[in-house]
Amino acid sequence: MQERQSIHGTWASRWVFILAATGSAVGLGNIWKFPYITGEHGGGAFVLVYLVCILLVGIPIMMGEVLVGRRGRCSPINSVKETALESGLSSRWQLLGWMGALAGFMIFTFYSVIAGWVLHYIAGMANGDYTDIGRDQAGSHFEALLAAPQTMLIYHSIFVVLVMLVVVGGVNKGLERATRIMMPALFVLLLLLLGYSFTTGSFGEGLSFLFSFSLEALTWDSVLVALGHSFFTLSLGMGAILAYGAYMPKNASIGGTVLTIGILDTVVALVAGMAIFPIVFANDMDPGAGPGLIFITLPVAFGQMPGGQIFGFLFFLLVGVAAWTSAISLMEPATAWLVERFGLERLPACLLLGFAGWAVGIACLGSFNFLSDFTLLGMNTFDFLDFVTANIMLPLGGLLLAIYVGWFLKTRVVESELAIAKQLHFRLWYLVLRLVSPVAVAIIFALNLYQKLA
Ligand code: PFF
Ligand code: NA
Repeated sequence: MQERQSIHGTWASRWVFILAATGSAVGLGNIWKFPYITGEHGGGAFVLVYLVCILLVGIPIMMGEVLVGRRGRCSPINSVKETALESGLSSRWQLLGWMGALAGFMIFTFYSVIAGWVLHYIAGMANGDYTDIGRDQAGSHFEALLAAPQTMLIYHSIFVVLVMLVVVGGVNKGLERATRIMMPALFVLLLLLLGYSFTTGSFGEGLSFLFSFSLEALTWDSVLVALGHSFFTLSLGMGAILAYGAYMPKNASIGGTVLTIGILDTVVALVAGMAIFPIVFANDMDPGAGPGLIFITLPVAFGQMPGGQIFGFLFFLLVGVAAWTSAISLMEPATAWLVERFGLERLPACLLLGFAGWAVGIACLGSFNFLSDFTLLGMNTFDFLDFVTANIMLPLGGLLLAIYVGWFLKTRVVESELAIAKQLHFRLWYLVLRLVSPVAVAIIFALNLYQKLA
């Protein structure tokens, strides 16, 4: 195959790719979802399973996604198609890309609702609404937000527009510069919050909740949630990383780059957990509080710390930016596809996608109020979209991608695209991708199904 170029652009360097992909990976999954699902699933053992999933399933599959993207140099759907044709396979493999696109769309809808909550808290912090607030007040503040669909709609709409504004301009402009400043700043603020939680007197309790492994607490359901979250947090299974891989410079090494992204994402999640749980225990709050966890704990902490209003404002601002750089990567793959398939300009493509995501998002935010009685498989719309994407579609997409890259693409192609210097490293990765990752996903799926049916 001759050297291909993406028609959508190429990242300026390997580091810009790392920054952009980390921008996609680090988001609400790390700061909002990881702490609350860890709380719901009892802590330590769950964290251990999550780390194993990242290492043995997430990172190897992420390398596979980047590889397919960079080889195909198109939107995910077309990159899968191009690489399939190159290896003499059926173009029907592109269905894999379609499933990812659908999952990405579904995630976008509820993701922007939560990002809307974050925007609401940015405004509230700026306004001083949380100064000296107690646990109960923080709780009722959050409940009041959930009971107010109009308020949520305003912030949800603002967020969708913000995402469209960036994606319209193409990935090269704006986004690169924003992430370059914001990601390190997010890290610094997270460390500051960690420092505060150290002073709460419950730091040890928080740590032992996160890191002491009692295997009795673990169920197959928890294992599935940990697996699903390892896909969600690394932005796998929905085309985001595949799309960004298509813009990766040819000379950059995929292995080292992906490892860096995976480590950064994991560190941010763990630090978020270490910052949040001590605050939870210090204030006698429930670690299993669910999706509202950070929206109740963090205001309490900020309300009490010196300069808390400023730090709280900055912190939610940065959570918002993290959500924003992630949501961009959810809209980019479908935008690129509309441009390739129908020759659309980016503007109409983004308007179309943004409007569709916004509209379905209304059903998500209604889950907490006017639509709370509407259920699918016994879950409200919000929980349903979250559950089906993270626990079924992403792992399934990852499983199929591992099989596609591991068993169907020509080994020669895979090896030359990865260009791993050490044969041993390549063989190890190939073995994990062909056997370990798919078998792990399949077993976890099977045992869950068995448990549900039995
Ligand atoms: N990885 C993001 C997070 O952890 O918040 C969420 C996400 C972004 C999921 C992009 C999927 C995606 F394609
Ligand atoms: Na993440």
